Amino acid sequence: MANLTLQSTYILASGFRIPVVGFGVYQTARAATEAVVLKAFETGYRHVDSARAYRNEGPTADAIKKSGIPRSDLFFTTKIRTSEMGYGPSKRALESSFKETGLDYFDLVLIHAPYGGREARLGTWRALVEAQKAGKIRSIGVSNYGVHHLEELDEYIKSGGGGEISVGQWEIHPWLAREDIVDWCRKHNVVVEAYSPLVQGVRANEPVLTALTKKYNKSFAQVLVRWSLQKGLVPLPKTATHSRVGPNIDIFDFELNEEDMKMLETGEYAPVCWDPVKSFD
Ligand SMILES: NC(=O)c1ccc[n+]([C@@H]2O[C@H](COP(=O)([O-])OP(=O)(O)OC[C@H]3O[C@@H](n4cnc5c(N)ncnc54)[C@H](OP(=O)(O)O)[C@@H]3O)[C@@H](O)[C@H]2O)c1
Repeated sequence: MANLTLQSTYILASGFRIPVVGFGVYQTARAATEAVVLKAFETGYRHVDSARAYRNEGPTADAIKKSGIPRSDLFFTTKIRTSEMGYGPSKRALESSFKETGLDYFDLVLIHAPYGGREARLGTWRALVEAQKAGKIRSIGVSNYGVHHLEELDEYIKSGGGGEISVGQWEIHPWLAREDIVDWCRKHNVVVEAYSPLVQGVRANEPVLTALTKKYNKSFAQVLVRWSLQKGLVPLPKTATHSRVGPNIDIFDFELNEEDMKMLETGEYAPVCWDPVKSFD
């Protein structure tokens, strides 16, 4: 843990590597995306998390092309949106994302949420597996799946459906630790990404955070990203503010001790984003 850097990686079930922190671009305006992603790359990020729904895949890919960093050193994620579930729509969605980005391959494609019913979920998975086999996608995974959705997919894969769940992405922070899902992923060799790791800024003045920011002389954002990393998650902090890009990940020179990690176990279930995990269709 002490030796991690922004360019450290974990190995995925697919055999490919994923940088341990990613830069989020949800709600980053299309016109502002290229510049802030370039700033993130200059700062040392090598991993960027976009989605079809964010409407900024194109400018994110432009930053990848303009960065001067070898494509193989960068990690680009996109996600199939909820209105594109099912084999045919998802296949067309992928085609549209390749056209929009001009990239030869995607490092990771996730199913954004488990909506649409079993047939649609497994149809989307089949489209991802097909693209993976064709070498267009390196790793595939899911987002916002509940354990029941993960079980459904695992069963399908084990019965010959193909592919492997390399990554899962959920809202995770001290007010929403999702231990059941994280445990499932650990047992099934799925790397867990944490979205809204800064709790979208709304917990900045929580007393427990204030105590830790004072103790470590770090910002609330740095404490939260560090918490995520020490939990073995891949945090995806977002900012569209250039002056926050570097400081938010100035987190490799301190370690929260065991007692402080315990202080951050709130036991709360308080999402700040949507929560499709509990959908039962
Ligand atoms: N799979 C999914 O369903 C899903 C859902 C949500 C998010 N995500 C992914 O996860 C990423 C992160 O999640 P998120 O964007 O919801 O939330 P987040 O990273 O927890 O927080 C982002 C918010 O915090 C603010 N912020 C950032 N640094 C700050 C600082 N140092 N001080 C004060 N405020 C600060 C940002 O404002 P400014 O931008 O104005 O600086 C923005 O409003 C997303 O960008 C996306 O890639 C995925």
